[in-house]
Amino acid sequence: MKGVILAGGQATRLYPLTLVTNKHLLPVYQKPVIYYAIEKLVGAGVDRIMIVTSPNHLGSFVDLLGSGQNFRSKKSGKQIQIVYGIQNAASGLADGLYIAKDYIGNESCILYLGDNIFEDDISKHVKNFKSGSLVFLKEVADPERFGVAEMDKKGKVVGIVEKPAKPKSNLAVTGMYIYDKTVWKKMVGQKPSKRGEYEITFVNNKYIKEGSLRSVILKKAWFDVGTFDNLFAASEYMKKKNAKDIR
Ligand code: DAU
Repeated sequence: MKGVILAGGQATRLYPLTLVTNKHLLPVYQKPVIYYAIEKLVGAGVDRIMIVTSPNHLGSFVDLLGSGQNFRSKKSGKQIQIVYGIQNAASGLADGLYIAKDYIGNESCILYLGDNIFEDDISKHVKNFKSGSLVFLKEVADPERFGVAEMDKKGKVVGIVEKPAKPKSNLAVTGMYIYDKTVWKKMVGQKPSKRGEYEITFVNNKYIKEGSLRSVILKKAWFDVGTFDNLFAASEYMKKKNAKDIR
């Protein structure tokens, strides 16, 4: 399975930190944000990754990551492959994913929003994935900031609403999604949302309608580092975790 990391966007919520650089290049404790995404995918056996970013920051990503020479495949021990896609305008997550269509080809893929940091191990989900789609949910105190899952009595997702004023649950849809090869067809006919973006929530709801979206509830820490508070909280968390790991 190949991976797509979205690392574009404006990150206006982090101004002035992101006036001249990209959110995914900022530090979370001792590593740039994008390292957490790459390491999570590589740890799950995903060795071929496209990073999609904006034209003005592409050079910085190439300087930092090159062709992937600083990351080793779990399976082969050789360097992983990193390639790049350019998103000219921040037109949404589905738009960003679509840039990787030819790179992914006929395979399944994992979409990873580059400003998300996950502690849970996702290896078995990647390994066992066959068809449809899989989303990763997390209980949060402030669901209105995210895509929110509506669940039925059996714990099945029956709908996802993007940043609802009145959330139907406290389960946020996190920024990691596994899709089969039908994902591209599900984007056809999509119109930009009220906020002017091609939303990934539109695609997920298509999978729900055909009854092929499954979900997993994450147990460990999850951060979306798009705000000052969360960027800071993630750094504090990693500092503590690091101290524990080396003790
Ligand atoms: O973090 C999880 C949330 O991420 C989900 O719960 C939401 O359903 C999903 O829409 C998304 O919401 P955000 O408002 O947090 O998305 P944001 O605009 O911050 O973008 C997420 C990542 O994708 C970030 O790393 C920047 C990148 N991005 C974003 C856009 C809009 C792109 O690469 N291209 C884009 O066009």
